[in-house]
Amino acid sequence: MSRVGILTCGGDCPGLNAAIRAVTRKLIISYDYEVLGIKNGYNGLIEGDVQPLSLYSVSGVLPRGGTILGTSRKNPLQIKNGKEAILENLNRFEIDSLVVIGSKSAIETANVLSRSGVRTVCIPGTIDNDIPGTDFTIGFDTAVTIATRAIDMVHTTAESHHRIIVVELMGYDTGWIATYAGLAGGADCILIPEVKFTLDETAALLKKRHKRRKFSIVVVAEGAIPDDVKDFRALSSKTDALGNSYVGSIGEFVGVELAKRTGMETRVTTLGYLQRGGSPSVPDRILATRLGVAAADKIKNKEFSVMVGVVGDKIATTPIDKVTGQVKKVNLEMFDAASTFFG
Ligand code: F6P
Repeated sequence: MSRVGILTCGGDCPGLNAAIRAVTRKLIISYDYEVLGIKNGYNGLIEGDVQPLSLYSVSGVLPRGGTILGTSRKNPLQIKNGKEAILENLNRFEIDSLVVIGSKSAIETANVLSRSGVRTVCIPGTIDNDIPGTDFTIGFDTAVTIATRAIDMVHTTAESHHRIIVVELMGYDTGWIATYAGLAGGADCILIPEVKFTLDETAALLKKRHKRRKFSIVVVAEGAIPDDVKDFRALSSKTDALGNSYVGSIGEFVGVELAKRTGMETRVTTLGYLQRGGSPSVPDRILATRLGVAAADKIKNKEFSVMVGVVGDKIATTPIDKVTGQVKKVNLEMFDAASTFFG
């Protein structure tokens, strides 16, 4: 009987459990395969930490956030003999193919393993939506919904206090969440890594707006860096209570700089891990389930070294070596539409 391993790797996101459930159910019910859950990303393959998945063990997980398998950002290829340990354990547990659900780096690792003969199928799961080969990644819609709600909520306090409120959103080095949530929440300015901006221009835009409306909401993606700041990292470097230095958030930096340049009272809200938390939205449940079923079909059809995604309303299949080494950048037509409402 064929035995398939499933793992989740990279930052968790809502919808991972829905995907695990879909892969498991489809493989067991339609194809009579055995399924093993691998714990904590690739770590479980290095340490031999695996457990059987049954119809019972994936029952009830569809609406649950996080991942029942646990996750990790550890890159096994940077661990001494990491790849060898993985290959050995795949052999030991008689796992003949692997479903990897996760971020860009998880898929990059899958690509290296597949070159060493591991039969892999990948599913894109990250709130960042930065993986090529799919219009949307699992978790993105939920993050946008949470971020939009936050932007709605800070409007009232910004308006009451006549303040600028800077809302910092995740996205790693892309501005997908910021663009979608900023557009949906009616942000007065959105700052993303894909579109050049300066603090001076941003301040001028807000000052002009201030003549008409006495508050503003500025959405900034965590990876955005102003063009007129020569060395953001040096300027924003901070020291924690233990004396370790770290890079301060772009949100805090932009907040301080905009206050200086506009003379307006400014506050910053960093949404952080709230964006990755809780139950998946309806679109994420549907996407995760469709991609899980599609991944199980790929395994059955022995179509390996691919990632399943969704393009338009169809399932799309992309070789994983075409997905790696690239970042899917924000759709600029959408950003332009959002920018119509700036100021
Ligand atoms: O999951 C992706 C992401 O949310 C990025 O947007 C963010 O930079 C990163 O995770 C931070 O997560 P962690 O602290 O788990 O590395």
